[in-house]
Amino acid sequence: MAWRSWPRENVEQMTANPDGTPEWVPDARELADLELLLSGAFDPLTGFLGSADTASVIENGRLADGTPWPDLVTLTLPPDHPVSAGQELTLRDPEGVALATVTVTERAADGLVAGPVKSHGAPEHGPFARLRRPPAEVRAEAGDRPVLAVTMRGPLDHLDEITATARELDATILLLPLAFGEGGPAVVRAALKARDGLPSGTRVVVVPLAPREPEIDLELREHIATAYGADEHLAGPEPITLPGPPHRRGLVVFFTGLSGSGKSTIARGLHDVLLERGGRTVTYLDGDVVRRLLSAGLTFSKQDRDLNIRRIGFVAAEVARHGGLAICAPIAPYAATRDEVRHMAETVGADFVLVHVSTPLAECERRDRKGLYAKARAGLIPEFTGVSDPYEEPDDADLTLDTTGMTVDRAVGSVLDLLTSGGWLR
Ligand code: ADX
Repeated sequence: MAWRSWPRENVEQMTANPDGTPEWVPDARELADLELLLSGAFDPLTGFLGSADTASVIENGRLADGTPWPDLVTLTLPPDHPVSAGQELTLRDPEGVALATVTVTERAADGLVAGPVKSHGAPEHGPFARLRRPPAEVRAEAGDRPVLAVTMRGPLDHLDEITATARELDATILLLPLAFGEGGPAVVRAALKARDGLPSGTRVVVVPLAPREPEIDLELREHIATAYGADEHLAGPEPITLPGPPHRRGLVVFFTGLSGSGKSTIARGLHDVLLERGGRTVTYLDGDVVRRLLSAGLTFSKQDRDLNIRRIGFVAAEVARHGGLAICAPIAPYAATRDEVRHMAETVGADFVLVHVSTPLAECERRDRKGLYAKARAGLIPEFTGVSDPYEEPDDADLTLDTTGMTVDRAVGSVLDLLTSGGWLR
């Protein structure tokens, strides 16, 4: 299995309770699956799948015991997480609330953790939490009439057809908005709106099903509808999820390069031009400024540098989440950490542009505007990037700029060209 981008804080900090029992914060998809396992919506599943079930599902769409089941409902931890088979693993949400315990029956080398889950009965929160009800409760109130379930991931059209089908079957209608991620609440609002146009007695129950491949998604919807007591199931149309045009999407412009390479100068120039032009909200997170405030007290150890970059990434992603444009200009010497920031931006539906300011060390050192290279060479500053600390050259830069003999205007112009050709600026 491909190595995926773990939230490193999780690996480093969220591996054990104070009492020593292992714990973990699953990602958003896994947490959504966990909720469905706990509620009974994934019936007959009672826990995360192990390797035998996984292989069997891939092979023939059935669990190892022959029960039809379309999807891999799995939990994966980093291979270096200390949990092992036979232990109880506490699962927490990102805010630290204990949600469930996995009784670990299998711990595979690729990171897979399998076993039944048990709820901690944590209070539910989040938008429309009161509408996220378990199947047993919903089935119990159904009465004698058949149930027509309608699963939906976007607005429903043809309400009249749904009404006609319900009349034909003499069924009550159960709308099941499949709400996940940023767009989740909008789907629930669409369901509540649709309810107003459907026969009275139509119910709305929210199901946090993360999207799957279309075919698997459809099969899972059938399973879930059945768990909720449906006699018939209609799958609402797939939403046309055209992402907004680039000039409306959030964007993180991330400069990386050695100290003295010209990152800040170009970033500042870009910031100025964008403010002069107007049309986008811009936030500039300069490396040195961040170090004075957001990351005050951090050192230049690998661990602190990574933390610094993650903080910058966090703020930049929040800016971009709301359609803003964030400019960042730290050294960011480690490729994996730059990747994490890219991932953070993409998670909120924003774009990420990496600009490598590749001015060679000799030129940075010749400029030595802050006199830091001289001090580093004299051994007065330890772990100095390029001198006594590593810088991992990006191989995924969208633009590489060596500013040796280049004017600031030209450098800024290149970045503007890139942003314009990518559609982020008009
Ligand atoms: S990063 O590695 O965590 O990305 P960051 O961009 O925040 O670095 O800070 C780099 C700035 O801190 C440099 O421009 C320089 O002024 C200063 N600095 C102080 N000590 C060091 C060091 N050991 N290595 C690199 N830069 C340092």
